[in-house]
Amino acid sequence: MSALRELYQQILNCQQCGLAESRTKVVPGEGPEDTAIVFIGEAPGWHEDQQGRPFVGPAGHFLDELLGSIGLKRGEVYICNVIKCRPPQNRDPLPAEIKACQKWLDLQLELLHPKLVVTLGRYSMMRFFPGETITKIHGKARKQGGIIYYPLYHPAAALHQRSLQEIIRADTLKIPLLLAEAEGASELKEKPQQLSMF
Ligand code: URA
Repeated sequence: MSALRELYQQILNCQQCGLAESRTKVVPGEGPEDTAIVFIGEAPGWHEDQQGRPFVGPAGHFLDELLGSIGLKRGEVYICNVIKCRPPQNRDPLPAEIKACQKWLDLQLELLHPKLVVTLGRYSMMRFFPGETITKIHGKARKQGGIIYYPLYHPAAALHQRSLQEIIRADTLKIPLLLAEAEGASELKEKPQQLSMF
């Protein structure tokens, strides 16, 4: 069994916060282990909690559409969340839940060592861009420690707010260039505190 699959077993048995009581299924994440690109959402919703898979509800269908717009299929990328269990009524994750779950995402990224990390929504952005706001930094990439981090609005937010749809579609179209950058086709200057525009 691969180290990632072993990690899934640990995540599936996690009892580190109160969400263990209310969840139906844990949603560790899924995708090829050798992918260069990882998408990180917020937390499972109702559909994900039922199926144990990330982004399988309406937000997931929109994510599939966004991936399709850049010639990617969901099976070609890794998809996971900051929080592995559904908060009741889809409420925002609590700070204690985020803290309890943090190690799982850290370990996933360590094992996957992606070249490009796309954050979906505020909670995922906050994990890599503390102190920033999504309205300010969506669609702006930053390279740190050899990895490009790229914040997008959450697909669910875009589904509820039509004005965000064109923004998330346009931001998504920049991913192929970032991927090429990340895979070393050309140089993106490494300036940890500065966001690079594409
Ligand atoms: N929203 C998320 O952030 N993650 C999912 O898996 C589904 C919806």
